[in-house]
Amino acid sequence: MTFTGRHLISINDFSNEEIEAVLDLAQEMDSALEAKKRLDLCQGKELYTIFYEPSTRTRSSFETAMHRLGGTVVSHAEAQVTSSVAKGETIADTVRTLEKYADVIVMRHPLDGSTRLAAEHSSVPIISGGDGAHEHPTQTLLDLYTILKEKGGIEGKNVALCGDLRHGRTVHSLAVALARFKAEITCIAPPGFELPDHIRDILNNYKCKITEYSSLEEIADDGSLLVHQPKTGKTHQEGFMSFLLESLDVLYFTRLQRERFDTQESSVAGEESYRINKQLLAKSRDDAVIMHPLPRINELAYEVDQDKRAAYFRQAGYGIPVRMALIALLLGVAEPKKALTTHEATVKIAKDTSNLRCINERCITNKEQYSTPKFYKVPGSPKLLRCYYCDWLAQN
Ligand code: ASP
Ligand code: CP
Repeated sequence: MTFTGRHLISINDFSNEEIEAVLDLAQEMDSALEAKKRLDLCQGKELYTIFYEPSTRTRSSFETAMHRLGGTVVSHAEAQVTSSVAKGETIADTVRTLEKYADVIVMRHPLDGSTRLAAEHSSVPIISGGDGAHEHPTQTLLDLYTILKEKGGIEGKNVALCGDLRHGRTVHSLAVALARFKAEITCIAPPGFELPDHIRDILNNYKCKITEYSSLEEIADDGSLLVHQPKTGKTHQEGFMSFLLESLDVLYFTRLQRERFDTQESSVAGEESYRINKQLLAKSRDDAVIMHPLPRINELAYEVDQDKRAAYFRQAGYGIPVRMALIALLLGVAEPKKALTTHEATVKIAKDTSNLRCINERCITNKEQYSTPKFYKVPGSPKLLRCYYCDWLAQN
């Protein structure tokens, strides 16, 4: 199936082969950028970025990517206050307007499922720059690219996802992709901040090896470390920590996503429990890679930045070639290097669900009145229905 005209809302919108095609082309873009070669693939094409949430990297790297491809950009930041959404305009009407102005639209929005709804009303490709706590698929493309560049492959690698795995959209898309590419996953999240059920369903479906811990904590004055394993209630001493760190190829840190907390979640036990510093780094493998989608708050001590294993700013830089490749493919101005086989949609919409709603209060279907909730059956548990927009469960 061709990429031309498609949307990218969830990492599951692309098959493994398609993800590899984007990353292969990104490598070509990377080389062209390094050689300072001029690329005019997108001459005459317009990218529109509309962001209803703050961003340092995603918006500016998409815009830089389009400039490097010879296209033009309209940049709409703080859309929650500067667009007519502030007067009550819907997402549907916003994209029906923007499609008249642009060839491709990148949207970031605070509500789960919002970018899927936008895509349903757009005749031009919508690329999600992050929808609430749901997914951030282009971050995943550049995360995979980073792992490939730094580690040479993904299959069999043990990747630790640390921090707020419940609200962090980057880890949701990434965990799924890692499972699909046969990596092992080690989760380190404070209690209550573990991966959501729908991601677990998917990981189980791919028979992904997943190990979970609740903290990565410095507890003693001498800096000795322990790790607590919630499933067994066991607390392991320092030797275990060294053993754990020895097994990790990638440590992927994330910040607490405070903007998505419920009011009762304002304080978090164990907030310092997954911070990496020089001491912890000293126990990690020489070839480990430290990643973070950024922005960082306290999870990465600044002393880590000088270490060659700290890859997070290189990772942010890879956003340019990866997003150049994606834009070029969706606009049909570049072809995958290898011919692709047909991509089959993984989600089949369930019938007769008009009496159901999504249980997620932050799902777009509970906010925009004209939207029609849709649900899909969970493979392996056909009695379970999950929301097509945000993946939470259905309710009567
Ligand atoms: N920048 C990433 C996102 O928008 C991660 C974060 O904000 O913590 O999801
Ligand atoms: N990684 C990421 O999405 O960064 P921004 O929120 O700054 O765009």
